[in-house]
Amino acid sequence: MSDTRSDSNVDLVTRTNQLEVPRLLTITIVISGMIAIVALIISAVAISKPASSDITVQGSTTNIQQTQPAVAASTYDASRYQSSYKKRIYTIAVGFGSGGFEYYDASGFKVGFFHDVIDAVCLEANMDCRTVTEPYTNCVISERGQPQRGGIGLMSGWYDACTGWLATRQRKQFSAFSKPFLKPPEAYFYALSGFNTLDITGKKVGLVSGWFTNEACLAGLDQVTGRDVPHGNVFHAQTPAELLAMIQNRTVDVGFTTASVMTDRISGTNVQQYPTDPIFCKNVGEQGMMTRKDNDFNSKWNEGFEKLVSSGRFKRLCDEAQTKHGGRGKINCVDA
Ligand SMILES: *[C@@H]1O[C@H](CO)[C@@H](O)[C@H](O)[C@H]1NC(C)=O
Repeated sequence: MSDTRSDSNVDLVTRTNQLEVPRLLTITIVISGMIAIVALIISAVAISKPASSDITVQGSTTNIQQTQPAVAASTYDASRYQSSYKKRIYTIAVGFGSGGFEYYDASGFKVGFFHDVIDAVCLEANMDCRTVTEPYTNCVISERGQPQRGGIGLMSGWYDACTGWLATRQRKQFSAFSKPFLKPPEAYFYALSGFNTLDITGKKVGLVSGWFTNEACLAGLDQVTGRDVPHGNVFHAQTPAELLAMIQNRTVDVGFTTASVMTDRISGTNVQQYPTDPIFCKNVGEQGMMTRKDNDFNSKWNEGFEKLVSSGRFKRLCDEAQTKHGGRGKINCVDA
């Protein structure tokens, strides 16, 4: 009895030791790896920096003398490590003040459904994504009497992509679109009470510059008289907030934009939404990411997005958004 017990004890100890060995090995490997990385970084610094370098610590500059000679120079080729170490950073423009898609939380941080989607897709796609807050007109710009064109930020490559733009015939001329994640938004007219939706003849019309709710969309609304708005009667706001102000101070007779950014904004004002049923523009697709045509962003993004969709996480993200951001306007995801 006692023999058996002691045997099993020995056995236990041996087994524990057997378990201990691989763990120790792993730790040793990890530590050696870390030391190797630190050594690489030190040698890289030694090559790229002169023997003495200025290091700024919270505003004060300290001059640190490096006594170490640049011995590693002949054995270490920094450029060989650049591509494998440095992951491409993708920068993404996101606007501000657009319903539940992009807004500032109580602490002043940018939040909203667009940010949720970017975080989730970039994680799936293994992309290093950074958002930058930009005026919409740097992505797409409209000017009186001219077709929409790519904004300076998008076309000059200040960032890789603009977020949540709808694929339209005009925009497809200068940009490429990812797989869509939002259905086409519902549009309405916004005006002070007594406005006749079905006749905008001679009315001054306010639009948000760069948005798909533009002159081309208006011109396709068969049910509306005076839909070919003369250029002189078109006024562009830079943001939905500015459009509302233009309606309120009578710079324009009527504004034309999407419910997702306006319905919530007009509550408690004397501005009303017309007609009862939403308006859908012709020749528009759904909303996704928009890039220059020569950018590889969309192919990587689409891979991540597909993974998000097939795992069911995209649908969950959309369902959660209704409670998280939905109070600020409808978030209408594509069926997935
Ligand atoms: C009306 O509001 C717009 C947008 O805020 C502003 O640019 C414009 O100067 C205002 N016009 C008048 C007459 O107050």
